[in-house]
Amino acid sequence: MDTASLYALSERYYLPVYRPRRIVLDHGKGSRVWDLDGREYVDFGAGIAVNALGHAHPALVAALTEQAGKLWHTSNVFVSEPPLRLAEQLVSASGFAERVFLCNSGAEANEAAIKLARKWATGEGREPERRVVLSFRGSFHGRTLAAVTATAQPKYHEGFEPLPPGFRYSEFNDLAAAEAAMADGAVCAVLVEPVQGEGGVTPASDAFLRGLRELCDRHGALLILDEIQCGMGRTGELFACHAYQVTPDVVTLAKALGSGFPIGAMLVGPKPAQSMQFGAHGTTFGGNPLAAAVAGAALRELRSPELMANVARQAQAIRAGVAALDAELGLFSEVRGRGLMIGAQLRDEHAGKAGEILDRCVEQGLLLLQAGPDVLRFVPALNIGDADIADGLQRLRAALLQFLGR
Ligand SMILES: Cc1ncc(COP(=O)(O)O)c(C=O)c1O
Repeated sequence: MDTASLYALSERYYLPVYRPRRIVLDHGKGSRVWDLDGREYVDFGAGIAVNALGHAHPALVAALTEQAGKLWHTSNVFVSEPPLRLAEQLVSASGFAERVFLCNSGAEANEAAIKLARKWATGEGREPERRVVLSFRGSFHGRTLAAVTATAQPKYHEGFEPLPPGFRYSEFNDLAAAEAAMADGAVCAVLVEPVQGEGGVTPASDAFLRGLRELCDRHGALLILDEIQCGMGRTGELFACHAYQVTPDVVTLAKALGSGFPIGAMLVGPKPAQSMQFGAHGTTFGGNPLAAAVAGAALRELRSPELMANVARQAQAIRAGVAALDAELGLFSEVRGRGLMIGAQLRDEHAGKAGEILDRCVEQGLLLLQAGPDVLRFVPALNIGDADIADGLQRLRAALLQFLGR
């Protein structure tokens, strides 16, 4: 089947909640991907910050194929070695967690964290109206009903009302506002992305995240860090909380955890570690041996100091490249982020045009992402090489020139 006929299937059969670019990706290697027509792309998006080790990483392929020949699935009625080893690895790497709940996606990890916070608060003797979860404007926590309610962006709520009660919102990076939102003692948990992703690639300030830790301690609330996008090495440290030197009560992970194989996790620190007991929560697929085998292999790679050094180096290279493009073309008002999670904010005269620029990028052989309509988002594989960065930036320049009609 050719590209047009295959693409037509998506229009015919998919629930039309996505608007993918009109190419059909076929295979990948490292930070390069090829479409069905043999066109090559440099991948600066990594499947939305998922393929942290690039495409077809030999260690992941080996882990997957070895496990595929052994045991695919047990359910959590039985245990198998890969998820047990993964849980052990995650606890030891985190430095704060005592226990792990494995699941299948980011939304599911956040859903588990919200439930855990409520259950913990219940155990603390707090009435339902004092089991509020506080989250921040511009956040993104996933699409299940509770996670989307915690997502403080009205565009994700509209039409899905009634939303579940017990959520409250405050300004991101505004500690005084968070303090006011917690003053009545109703908040049992603060849910925050150390670096907001979908909301525009905005890092929390050190003072904000550390201040939230203090507020949680003062008001008897849990600090839940959503590291689904910014965790697993993306900031240049395995966990974003390490980069911020903040000790959370709960961390949620997904995306790069499986580096392309769907898996999520909730890591739980000592305070709420006993609050979920037998029967309180569960999942059929979570901790599936196939997913866990891949995630275990990914984690071994992601823990390498050389990889973290590459994150710092290539982040610098992208920032320098984007700065040079801006000096030449004058497109961006700000470049921000942390590690290999970089956002380039379009100047006001180009507001709303990120999608159009991404179309030009595809035409020039570059897969790039946006974070909202005004921000170009760079979240490449953490092991991306010098030639990929150089070629990607060159293709970005061609795309921007095309966008500007030059
Ligand atoms: C910070 C953050 N949390 C949660 C999610 C939801 O993850 P998933 O799409 O795997 O449900 C995302 C996805 O983009 C995310 O970036």
